[in-house]
Amino acid sequence: MKALVWHGSKDVRCDNVPDPTIEDPRDAIIKVTTCAICGSDLHLYDGYMPGMESGDVLGHEFMGEVMEVGSDARSALKVGDRIVVPFTIFCGECDQCKRGNFSVCERSNRNKDWAAKAFGRTTAGLFGYSHLTGGYAGGQAEYVRVPFADKTHVKVPDSLTDEQVLFLGDIFPTGWQAAVACDIQPDDTVAIWGAGPVGQMAIRSAILLGAGQVICIDRVPERLEMARAGGAVTINFDDESVLERIEELTSGKGPEKCIDAVGMEAHGTATLDSMIDRAKQAVMLGTDRIHVVREMAYVCRPAGILSIPGVYGGLVDKFPLGMIMNKGLTIRTGQTHVNRWTDDLLRRIEEGQIDPSFVITHTVGIEQGPEMYKTFRDKEDGCIKVVIKP
Ligand SMILES: NC(=O)c1ccc[n+]([C@@H]2O[C@H](COP(=O)([O-])OP(=O)(O)OC[C@H]3O[C@@H](n4cnc5c(N)ncnc54)[C@H](O)[C@@H]3O)[C@@H](O)[C@H]2O)c1
Ligand SMILES: [Zn+2]
Ligand SMILES: [Zn+2]
Repeated sequence: MKALVWHGSKDVRCDNVPDPTIEDPRDAIIKVTTCAICGSDLHLYDGYMPGMESGDVLGHEFMGEVMEVGSDARSALKVGDRIVVPFTIFCGECDQCKRGNFSVCERSNRNKDWAAKAFGRTTAGLFGYSHLTGGYAGGQAEYVRVPFADKTHVKVPDSLTDEQVLFLGDIFPTGWQAAVACDIQPDDTVAIWGAGPVGQMAIRSAILLGAGQVICIDRVPERLEMARAGGAVTINFDDESVLERIEELTSGKGPEKCIDAVGMEAHGTATLDSMIDRAKQAVMLGTDRIHVVREMAYVCRPAGILSIPGVYGGLVDKFPLGMIMNKGLTIRTGQTHVNRWTDDLLRRIEEGQIDPSFVITHTVGIEQGPEMYKTFRDKEDGCIKVVIKP
């Protein structure tokens, strides 16, 4: 089959690889009808996430048709079912899964010991996202093996198109979880850094959850335009002072809630802190650029919440703990517990409260995947979200 394969930093190829097969009775094989490139894939593309090996199949936002079901998954799935696959693989039975903490499932990561060495305890297995999260082949491919398939799926009705439901596997629940973590009150201002796909979903989610005002910060004009179409007031950090505009928009009080939908590759303004981050990342002394976290901690109203869906990889420097402690800020973060939210979000799509397909700007075949990684990373050609039809 054809698949998008990681060969090293900035080297993704469309290769022929062996078809997946059932390896465990709880597995299923699906034929991928639609998949997408996620902002998290860019951290792999740019070589910032540890644990990738040449030959790894990428992709963790995908859906398709069930082709084959292992004997222990047949009570939940049958051949022909149409499913979206959550990027977090979960068993549904461990203590964390029972609490709905699916992204830290204790059983789905095949490389638990490695993850535990890095993080103190294991986290869940993820599709196409390094050997630290299990080394599972991803879904930017014609076929995928879905482990723990009796749990790791979301059945979707034929009345909705692939484009309407695909993002239930990642960016929609991610934006939603980020907004839920803000515990939004009606007069809250929610400020969201990043108008990429996750930021766009966070804007719509914050509004659906009743935020008084949503502010979105980025510098890419078409992304800011899409943010405004979703109901946000926007700040272009290349043209305006983020701090001054936020003061104006919040009567000098600061936003009660701040969301980091940027992650470890934040572009710095010409501030000293972001220059230090960039220099350290360049010589592998630091893994993450946390300029956005520092800016959020600085502007946030005391007793506010910093919600961080943006992905980080390792240890960070110049972390403003004193600011966070003295202002009484709460930090909430994590990989998304996808299936905790999907029943509710699928219902909202069916009811027409939101149609997540608004974010798609490019649809291509799998052979064009490698060039689309670059187009998406460089935000060329108005690219906001790439969908691939394998
Ligand atoms: N927690 C999860 O489960 C989860 C799931 C999906 C994605 N993510 C993460 O969310 C983040 C965003 O994903 P995406 O798909 O939207 O990616 P993206 O790269 O398309 O979007 C990031 C946006 O941030 C903007 N940006 C960069 N520096 C900035 C700054 N200093 N201030 C304001 N904006 C800035 C960029 O211009 C870009 O538009 C990534 O880190 C991704 O890994 C996390
Ligand atoms: Zn993702
Ligand atoms: Zn589990």
